[in-house]
Amino acid sequence: MIKQDEFPLAIAIMAAGKGTRMKSETLPKVMHTLAGRSMIMHVLHTAMELTPSLILPIVGHHRDKVKAHVAEQSSSEMLERLSWVEQVQQLGTGHAVQQLMPELNGFGGHVIIVNGDVPLLSAKTLQELLRQHAEGFHAATLLTTRLKDPTGYGRIMKNNAGYFIGIREDKDCEPAELKIDEVNTGIYLFDWKFLEEILPQLKNDNAKGEFYLTDALGMLVTRKLSVGVHCMEDSHEVLGINSRLDLAHVEDFLYQQIRDHWLDQGVTLRNPTSIVIDSTVELSSDCEILSGCVLQGKTQIGKGSVIGPNTHIIDSQVGEHCQISHSVVNQAQLADQVSVGPFAHIRPQSQLDTGSKIGNFVELKKTHLGAGSKASHLSYIGDAEIGQNCNIGAGTITCNYDGVHKHLTTLADDVFVGSNSTLVAPIEIGKSGYIAAGSVITEAVPAGALGIGRGRQSNKAGWVARKRPQK
Ligand code: UD1
Ligand code: MG
Repeated sequence: MIKQDEFPLAIAIMAAGKGTRMKSETLPKVMHTLAGRSMIMHVLHTAMELTPSLILPIVGHHRDKVKAHVAEQSSSEMLERLSWVEQVQQLGTGHAVQQLMPELNGFGGHVIIVNGDVPLLSAKTLQELLRQHAEGFHAATLLTTRLKDPTGYGRIMKNNAGYFIGIREDKDCEPAELKIDEVNTGIYLFDWKFLEEILPQLKNDNAKGEFYLTDALGMLVTRKLSVGVHCMEDSHEVLGINSRLDLAHVEDFLYQQIRDHWLDQGVTLRNPTSIVIDSTVELSSDCEILSGCVLQGKTQIGKGSVIGPNTHIIDSQVGEHCQISHSVVNQAQLADQVSVGPFAHIRPQSQLDTGSKIGNFVELKKTHLGAGSKASHLSYIGDAEIGQNCNIGAGTITCNYDGVHKHLTTLADDVFVGSNSTLVAPIEIGKSGYIAAGSVITEAVPAGALGIGRGRQSNKAGWVARKRPQK
């Protein structure tokens, strides 16, 4: 590990470009997400792992949107290190880095510069870049890789002796140069004092008419300064995202990495390639995720829980030894030994206490279900506070909405609601209260009482013989 006081470090992230090739009307490129986290947040998380003294995102296109997004998604620790740099007109990556000059005026350290569209980049790789840079006493060190199809990337130019002499952008290459398979990853480490001198000399006399940062490396070589080249064998991590196709490929690879990580942590995944787990999700050992599950956002799954098949969980906390199958759970909290599904929908602000059960075709919204309580079939329960050990019969509906306002349904402990009952809120059922099947309950039921709210049955003796048409 390189010590900060000997080696002051800043990390700049280029994120000002429009990302034309993404063909998005509204979303700046670096805000597109992979496995539930935006490109820029992936890069910022990686940057934080190196504890740099300063992180400098360079923003331009939709800069207010990008800033607001980062402010919302970042920890306070991350925000403390951030210093925004603006590139009002996007005249190229060299021009973007020129915008760092006022901010880094007199900075005596080194600067990692990364493209904002390389979200899989790991801190381990950056550490390796730092090590090679420091050991070689280089003015700059460049991360490269070899690609089967290098189209679109800057090519690494070497002289006959095999020494690096510069980078040529795809659009500026001669046909023979296009065959070079070693490419620039867009990840660099510069001794700032040398880069600072070179930056004002960049020119835009190239195919795109842009100021290329990549030209700075050739210029350092011309000045006889040492440029290190670190070629990564595994290129997946440094793939740049320029189009939706790139995004899909890189995200697929990221999902694979996430699955491998959890398998390594003692989680069982059945038919793993059918399972999608966001980078923000946390799983515990011995939980089991079955085929076709999608786990997103700030979801946590406790030990020994079995999720799936075909279950979608978003921003929810699931305790230990729970079972959820064929269901959707969104922004809910499940304690231990809770059972959900098949075919249940648990909506936001629901809380299911220990040992409670939600069965098939039940929808829950903003409902607290006490320990051991059950709604096993065909119910809608919304805006309800339900005590412990209640049994909610098939077809129970809470009528929580009067067309203007939502109202609360309260059930004390040990309540039994007979099948096909309608509870018209606001309503309270006292402890151990019973609701007769098929009731429409509009008045409070006291503790220990039976509430019946239905028309009485009468049987007409001999009716069938009298009324049935004769054959
Ligand atoms: C760039 C490199 C190329 C490299 C590839 C790796 C240059 C000139 N070329 O090409 O050698 O192989 O990345 O992925 O650097 N940006 C700004 N301001 C600008 C222009 C771009 O901030 O004025 C940002 C973009 O938002 C993006 C990054 O810089 O995050 C790279 O820009 P992009 O247009 O994707 O460059 P590439 O064509 O991919
Ligand atoms: Mg790019």
